[in-house]
Amino acid sequence: MKILLTGGAGYIGTHTCIELLNAGYDVVVADNFCNSQPESCKRAMEITCKQFPVYELDIRDQAKLEALFEKEKPEAAIHFAGLKAVGESVFKPLEYYENNIDATFVLLRVMEKFGAKKLVFSSSATVYGEQEVMPLVETMKCTGCTNPYGWTKYMIEQILRDYGKAHPDWSIVLLRYFNPVGAHESGMVGENPNGIPNNLMPRVTQAALGKIEKLGVFGDDYPTPDGTCLRDYIHVVDLAKGHVCAIRYAAENDGCDVFNLGTGVGYSVLAIINTFERVNNVKVPHEIAPRRPGDAAMAYSNPEKAARVLHWKAEKNLEDMCRDSWNWQQKNPNGY
Ligand code: NAD
Ligand code: WQD
Repeated sequence: MKILLTGGAGYIGTHTCIELLNAGYDVVVADNFCNSQPESCKRAMEITCKQFPVYELDIRDQAKLEALFEKEKPEAAIHFAGLKAVGESVFKPLEYYENNIDATFVLLRVMEKFGAKKLVFSSSATVYGEQEVMPLVETMKCTGCTNPYGWTKYMIEQILRDYGKAHPDWSIVLLRYFNPVGAHESGMVGENPNGIPNNLMPRVTQAALGKIEKLGVFGDDYPTPDGTCLRDYIHVVDLAKGHVCAIRYAAENDGCDVFNLGTGVGYSVLAIINTFERVNNVKVPHEIAPRRPGDAAMAYSNPEKAARVLHWKAEKNLEDMCRDSWNWQQKNPNGY
């Protein structure tokens, strides 16, 4: 089966290309490279010793996307393409709503036209909003988001649920990722944020490398065991394998369903720093800084549904995540 990966040159997309190719699927990538480089796909080809077509296009360009479908005839799509910087979305809400939501509309129209009826969507744990109870489970009512980026995920989930209801012969899988970190064990592909990163792990690696003077730990007075926030960090290779399971599931089941992809374990910011320092034998200069507005004290998943229905479970541990993040950063101090 051939699968279109929109945004397939990005961080999670590249790792998913590798796992799909390893599992025997054919892939085709469509990316406008607004947050990635063609080099990531070349490296995925090197790692797998397999070639795949890469189209430089904005998937909102319906004519170009149709031409891709005409030529490549993908039967399924994994929809990674989107803008993802939470902070930036607050200042550029229109860009986020336009890019993320329009891209989904165009993709659906083109898939419908060409009879491709299997879709996996990159959603996010952010759609849960603020919850009193942990772990986060798919049956919880989502309470809304704190930023436009999050709202695009929330809205696209709803659009896809409605679309699925109207098209019961489609298979739509919504994947709520928790906090993806780490890199392929080769160190050849990894996260390559534009400019100064916002997320914790790229900031940890850049602090260890001396690119950032000191990592600020945002708050140490949360109601958690060491006072710093807890998150469900998941190795990007485990996450990529979750997409292979989701595609297998979509091939055999119609309807629209939603799954958490997380480990089920919450680690604190200090646990990340301490583990990173220990396994890599390197210092991460850091200091306690004020809380970051909008951060929840805790967010971790109940991953049981994905285990039961998709037959997927995260296998890598925090040490693997820290080791592989550092391996990638050291081998590619300036990214691709
Ligand atoms: P990324 O920025 O590395 O990858 C997204 C890719 O989409 C980029 O290569 C970018 O160039 C491309 N793109 C954006 N808009 C496009 C458009 N209109 N047409 C064609 N290509 C376009 O991000 P990622 O971390 O790999 O995330 C992939 C998906 O997973 C995103 O939808 C993101 O919102 C979602 N997600 C990410 C995280 C995370 O922490 N990384 C967590 C939850 C959900
Ligand atoms: C993790 C923890 C920070 C940076 C975000 C999005 C979410 C999803 C994943 C896309 C928090 C702390 C961070 C730093 C720190 N993305 N931190 N110092 O906020 O859990 O989730 O990425 O869907 O939607 O909101 O991830 O990596 O930014 O932060 O102390 O310099 O690290 O306070 O507790 P977050 P993060």
